[in-house]
Amino acid sequence: MPKKVNIVILAAGKGTRMRSSLPKVLHSLSHKTLLGHVVDTSRSVDADNICVVYGHGGDQVLDTFSGQDDVAWAEQKEQLGTGHALKVAIPKLEKEGVTLVLYGDVPLTRKETLEKLIADCGENSIALLTAKVADPTGYGRIVRDSSAKVTAIVEHKDANAEQLKIDEINTGILALPAGKIEKWVNAFSNDNAQGEYYLTDVIELAVNEGCSVNTTCVDDFYETLGVNSRQQLAELERYYQLQEAEKLMAAGVTLRDPARLDVRGSVTVGQDSIIDVNVIFEGDCEIGANVNIGANCHFKNAKIGANTTILANSIIEDSSIGEYANIGPYARLRPGTDLADKTKVGNFVEIKNANIDVGSKVNHLSYVGDAKVGKGVNIGAGSITCNYDGVNKHQTVIEDKCFIGSNSALVAPVKIAKGSTVGAGSTITVSTDEETLTVARAKQRAIKGWKRPVKKK
Ligand code: UD1
Ligand code: CA
Repeated sequence: MPKKVNIVILAAGKGTRMRSSLPKVLHSLSHKTLLGHVVDTSRSVDADNICVVYGHGGDQVLDTFSGQDDVAWAEQKEQLGTGHALKVAIPKLEKEGVTLVLYGDVPLTRKETLEKLIADCGENSIALLTAKVADPTGYGRIVRDSSAKVTAIVEHKDANAEQLKIDEINTGILALPAGKIEKWVNAFSNDNAQGEYYLTDVIELAVNEGCSVNTTCVDDFYETLGVNSRQQLAELERYYQLQEAEKLMAAGVTLRDPARLDVRGSVTVGQDSIIDVNVIFEGDCEIGANVNIGANCHFKNAKIGANTTILANSIIEDSSIGEYANIGPYARLRPGTDLADKTKVGNFVEIKNANIDVGSKVNHLSYVGDAKVGKGVNIGAGSITCNYDGVNKHQTVIEDKCFIGSNSALVAPVKIAKGSTVGAGSTITVSTDEETLTVARAKQRAIKGWKRPVKKK
């Protein structure tokens, strides 16, 4: 039977250095809060039990996670130290298996790292995640005996000159045998430099009882870096984004500059696609192969078919585009836009809740909303579907092979029947007949002998 896995996430700290009215763990890294990252990683290792120890900004934290019933909450009213924080969680934890302790402000720990700690922790052994660092200032030091066995963790403020030289530090992440936690936690004292109950004291207690300590030293320090300030948040954000960029490049995507791409959600991109600078992907995006994306494009829940080109400064949200399409520059595709293969949408065109079929073109300065457009249609510059009467939205249908002259207003509900042509500048309020030319504008007049007014002297 696999062992039970409890995860406790310590998140009661104040986060003073963020200088924020928002609790620290609710600040976002990419598309998720710091705490959200830790909770999701905890879920990814199939924890039986996830308990967050919260304190500062309690209501806001609870509200943010409301509805996520797999997370239990334990309030730590006063922040008396990491050892006290774990104690507060005990009533919510199972007393068998492993209890893994994580920090709510350390967002980028990998699933594989947690799995290793869970595997390395037994009924009589602790698993501890350490790191070797150039500057260990501020961290707890890992103290080992002459045979390299861990004997204790000494906090920076309590360390002697010899211990301060140790460059192996405590990341704070560790796995403990669940059955022994209660006894250990009750044995902590706060007789130390900071007057706190230190969780790190667990090591010495356990070793004195004959417990062994299995250490894993992280390769990638970013996995254990916490956020204490906006600077550190920005640093972790860049690191996270670079990893996303590297995943795309590894999948065969060219990024003009991997440092100028932001993924706030999930994105898949097909081989040989090329992405220019300052592109943002939000939500779930799916981009095909050989797609060319210009600078400064913003995608949110967008699906783009293979061989399509999206030119610079286009914004595409909750929309899907077929293959060999040509979009932008400066196109705005709002929710519900569905463009078929070989469609063309040009500059300063807005499309919303509309289906546009194969090979149709909306090249310049148009608004197409609540519309169904057939195949091979050409919508001239500045044409508008007047879809809103101030109360209700109405649909415009433009059938196959229609030609809509520039600057036409199609007042919905209206149908432009197959093969028909609308003369430029028309205001169409009645549906047209197939294969006809409809012109609905004032007739041109020539007034002979008319004189321009002249200024009086
Ligand atoms: C802790 C470790 C130190 C380690 C360092 C790594 C202890 C005594 N020290 O020190 O060995 O090198 O982390 O960053 O454990 N928290 C609570 N309640 C509290 C106190 C803290 O929930 O009463 C939470 C904080 O919100 C934070 C985490 O525990 O997420 C760590 O607290 P922090 O004060 O940053 O610990 P350090 O002093 O840095
Ligand atoms: Ca810290």
